Amino acid sequence: MNKPAVICLDGPSGVGKGTICLLVARNLGWHILDSGSLYRLTALKVSRENVMPDEECIAMLAKSLAVEYREDGGNLEIYLDNEEVNQLIRSEEVGVLASKVAAMPAVREALLARQRAFLRSPGLVADGRDMGTVVFPDASLKIYLTATPGERANRRYKQLKEKGIDVNLANLTEDLQHRDQRDMNRASAPLKPADDAIIVDTTQYNIDEVYSIVMKWVQKRIVTVT
Ligand code: DC
Repeated sequence: MNKPAVICLDGPSGVGKGTICLLVARNLGWHILDSGSLYRLTALKVSRENVMPDEECIAMLAKSLAVEYREDGGNLEIYLDNEEVNQLIRSEEVGVLASKVAAMPAVREALLARQRAFLRSPGLVADGRDMGTVVFPDASLKIYLTATPGERANRRYKQLKEKGIDVNLANLTEDLQHRDQRDMNRASAPLKPADDAIIVDTTQYNIDEVYSIVMKWVQKRIVTVT
């Protein structure tokens, strides 16, 4: 039997991958993998437990995370140890720690099988940094979304403000630059487009425009083969 199809949406922080991923998955009726949430959940767990700041201990913790994803009408609710943690894992503090644990090869390895297990019929829309390069190298469609750091910081700022989270744009820009550096320069699965990815620079576009560009590729590559 053929494996279900995968659409990979990779790119740096704050580019809008999560929103596009939800919209595409909702439109197709497919499942979602928000892979960054697994690194964020690991970071949250690390900050809560008295674990040794040692790569192997953190990898063990990542492997045994008690996580549940509930897809509810196209929305994604995330539970850690039976507690709903959607807001908690989105804090900048957790994001910074997530970027550090994501640089650890043993942690990435520990989360690999868990990410691949999200692939179920009728298909998966996966967002992250290495969906197309490492996790789903045979994906039917790989899109790499990008935008200037200034634009991404502005988008993240607006998004957090709308959620009532108090943030400072200068701090956010600095954090984002550090995170970009860490994500792009780490030895294990660094952030970069897959050789066969379609690169979309979203700096000049709003979310509706990005969505319609992505859906054109989906129609071209996926709808015609399913
Ligand atoms: O997309 P996000 O901001 O929720 O990701 C949180 C951190 O996890 C970010 O620093 C990059 C890292 N990450 C990763 O290394 N690989 C992925 N597939 C997804 C996220």
